[in-house]
Amino acid sequence: MSLKDVLKDKLNEEELKLLRRSFEIIGHIAIVEIPEELMPKKDLIVSAILSRHKNVKTILRKIGEVDGVFRVASYQKIYGEETETIAKEHGCRFLVDPTKVYFSSKLSFERERIAKLVKEGERVLVMFAGVGPFAIVIAKLSRPKEVIGVELNKIAVEYFRRNIKLNKIENVVAIEGDVAEVVPKLEGKFDRILMPAPYSAENFVHLVKGKVSEGGFIHYYTFESQNFERSLPKKVEEIFLRHGIIVRSTFMRRCGNFAPYVNRYVLDLKYLGDL
Ligand SMILES: C[S@@+](CC[C@H](N)C(=O)[O-])C[C@H]1O[C@@H](n2cnc3c(N)ncnc32)[C@H](O)[C@@H]1O
Repeated sequence: MSLKDVLKDKLNEEELKLLRRSFEIIGHIAIVEIPEELMPKKDLIVSAILSRHKNVKTILRKIGEVDGVFRVASYQKIYGEETETIAKEHGCRFLVDPTKVYFSSKLSFERERIAKLVKEGERVLVMFAGVGPFAIVIAKLSRPKEVIGVELNKIAVEYFRRNIKLNKIENVVAIEGDVAEVVPKLEGKFDRILMPAPYSAENFVHLVKGKVSEGGFIHYYTFESQNFERSLPKKVEEIFLRHGIIVRSTFMRRCGNFAPYVNRYVLDLKYLGDL
């Protein structure tokens, strides 16, 4: 449900127009976007959210976009204190503090989609692993042999390790470090490599070379203008080819919105060999 829906009886039409639709719930935390002009109505907005969402204990106002290498947005607390919470999805629990690490409940469907593609015994690499949601959902819903997650943000890695324990999973390993340094040192090949860093994945494509098993897949996330959506599979295949990696895009879907007319896309790339 959008913030506009929650507030449609409380604000007038002009005020409703000022609201962004975006409204996210992570565990007991609600994340909202309230423009400065509407801040005098803050208490009304807070009570409308609390009346509809009884579990909410903290409300964060997003005041800066997801930014920086760690991809964390800036927030202002407008209700409650606690910013650490447990998000639940697909029978998994994720301890997370969205003011310190990246986490999006909006990717929940995508995590389940990928997990269902994983076949028994696969070895999976999750680059840019965050607090571990892709790695852990894969381990929980499928039967991989091993899932390795690599993440740079020290705090996210701490949560990732706590989340492995929280979900009683044994075949997931969290490695702290820069994928550019860690991935070349990883031994063996992977049946599946995830690259969930849509703002910069292109800079890391070269790391995939020599790391995918025959018949394996790469799940590549990227931002693209809606106008160029149709040419995206070819564009991504060419990016890989420039790095000597032959892939064929077998599937593409929109899995989020970044800005007006700019979406997050995932492409499933079948690995055909290295040049
Ligand atoms: C968009 S977030 C995705 C996190 C996680 N996969 C998820 O879906 O919740 C990208 C993550 O990549 C991490 N990151 C950025 N550059 C990195 C690098 N060079 N090596 C490893 N992790 C990196 C950030 O700290 C951030 O947690």
